[in-house]
Amino acid sequence: MKTVESIIKEGDCAQVLRDYPDNFFDLIVTSPPYADQRKNTYGGIPPAKYVDWFVQRSAEFLRVLKPTGSFVLNIKEKVIAGERHTYVLELILALREQGWKWTEEYIWHKRNCHPGKWPNRFRDAWERCLHFTKTSKFNMYQDAVMVPMGDWAKTRLKKLGKNDVIRFNSQVGSGFGKNIQNWVGRDMAYPSNVLHFATETGNKNHSAAFPRALPEWFIKLFTKEGDWVLDPFVGSGTTCEVAQKLRRNSVGIDILPEYVQLSTEKINPVEIMLFEKRAEYGKSDKKRNN
Ligand SMILES: C[S@@+](CC[C@H](N)C(=O)[O-])C[C@H]1O[C@@H](n2cnc3c(N)ncnc32)[C@H](O)[C@@H]1O
Repeated sequence: MKTVESIIKEGDCAQVLRDYPDNFFDLIVTSPPYADQRKNTYGGIPPAKYVDWFVQRSAEFLRVLKPTGSFVLNIKEKVIAGERHTYVLELILALREQGWKWTEEYIWHKRNCHPGKWPNRFRDAWERCLHFTKTSKFNMYQDAVMVPMGDWAKTRLKKLGKNDVIRFNSQVGSGFGKNIQNWVGRDMAYPSNVLHFATETGNKNHSAAFPRALPEWFIKLFTKEGDWVLDPFVGSGTTCEVAQKLRRNSVGIDILPEYVQLSTEKINPVEIMLFEKRAEYGKSDKKRNN
């Protein structure tokens, strides 16, 4: 079996990525520092400066991502002075200006979010996973994330009405259509854009780790074995850990040495030994990967 490479690098991702060639990665999946949050651990960027801060880094993401690649950004706006701040909405517009296509928005529903009481809103049980691409012809392996049809199929498909046996085109002109009859006798269906994953509690010595299931889902959907995955804000190393398990090569970057250490510990040591032999990773790899 071909060995996969899992590389953890320390530094500001904007700097570290300069060593990588254009069009290198197949997927970028990441959860960046959210504006002003966790100031005491890894620093916060004031909401008013967040977009400027982010686009300096996403310019590098755009450069290193292949035209067939995807960029998945897990983010959520915070509440400031009693209302949701608009920096995520502004960021979406700025990323479009930068050249990204805002292809889709997935919702991560946190299945196990803990109960609470706030005066003017309910507990926050979801985060955005914004999907950006460079073109509309990106790689997407939809069969890799199929889900069981579920109980609804037993009742819904038991007796078909006259509209279920013809293709029904969307009335809003989206080009989508459905023919319910096509699903009779099938065990698996395509999922929706709402992902139900529990947060992993007591996790990883990092205050903002996402559950393994989150990068796993996107890695399966947008890459195949041997592809290259990047997490430019890798934190406790979740993305690289999962990428290695799924036989994808990966690069994780974090600005704090303690998280670099934590991430490195997550990766299978045999494979670490293999890549540690290489003095410097970067431009020289272009040739090898062509
Ligand atoms: C939300 S956490 C990521 C958590 C990660 N998804 C996990 O599962 O552990 C964001 C990380 O970005 C790192 N970070 C902040 N600014 C950075 C920068 N300019 N370049 C690289 N990493 C940075 C922080 O140290 C922090 O670990």
